[in-house]
Amino acid sequence: IGGGDMPVMISFLNSLSGVAAMLTGFVIGNTMLIIGGSLVGASGLILTNIMCRGMNRSLGNVLFSAVGATTAKAKRRNKDEVPAYTAEDAAIVLENAQSIIVTPGYGLAVAQAQHVTRELADVLTGNGASVKYAIHPVAGRMPGHMNVLLAEADVDYDQLYEMDEINDEFERTDVCLVIGANDVVNPVARTDPTGPLAGMPILNCDKARTVMIIKRSLSPGFAGVDNPLFYDAKTMMLFGDGKKVVQSLLSELKG
Ligand code: TAP
Repeated sequence: IGGGDMPVMISFLNSLSGVAAMLTGFVIGNTMLIIGGSLVGASGLILTNIMCRGMNRSLGNVLFSAVGATTAKAKRRNKDEVPAYTAEDAAIVLENAQSIIVTPGYGLAVAQAQHVTRELADVLTGNGASVKYAIHPVAGRMPGHMNVLLAEADVDYDQLYEMDEINDEFERTDVCLVIGANDVVNPVARTDPTGPLAGMPILNCDKARTVMIIKRSLSPGFAGVDNPLFYDAKTMMLFGDGKKVVQSLLSELKG
């Protein structure tokens, strides 16, 4: 299975567990098991179908396209390969930005940075900027992962935008602030037709005027593919744990 297709696969296997329970219900004559299993199986299939559409693939393609294929592992990168920016540099840019799109990913969940991110967004909004959140359907490690985290931090639901709703806005946006996301903003998905991310729709972060990426290193994401966005001239890499870096940005802006 191509790395980027794993969410579809997880959902499909969940669905099959329901089918297995339903068949067991028939064998042992248990009506509850038949009904419960059918519900799990059917809802899992609906989710699988939705996720296939999100990934721009058919289920057959997810299951069989990577059979026998070998993928080259991304080269280990040293942080010195790109300029590292400080929270102070980033705060100056953010202070002057009129429009900001926050793009969260798995690293936001690992760092538990959702609360400080909302605080940062509040400060930026108070400064007169428009702040929106771009949510990719497979960001994180489970369906709706980012929605759950941001809801926990009381982020207003109106500020969350699905990929299709926001993708055209990046080119008119001053700053795209990427917090712990990698595969879902990797432009290689558009350019490499053979890689594990091939064809997966991504958030158009690379089209924003300035891209800020918060992560600890230049390591690849879940799919194991190097991300050229890190080396783009308009990208500011802010190395460090998601929560700590956002906290430093906050104190710079408040200061
Ligand atoms: P990923 O591509 O997995 O990238 C997450 C990034 O977060 C990593 O590159 C990592 O870089 C960074 N990170 C980790 N801990 C951090 C921390 N404490 N502070 C700051 N950054 C941290 O995430 P994504 O962009 O959200 O994409 C999701 C991927 O998972 C997709 O490939 C998707 O197919 C797959 N997947 C999704 C699901 C569902 S259902 N959502 C299920 C299974 C798999 P550093 O190590 O350099 O910090």
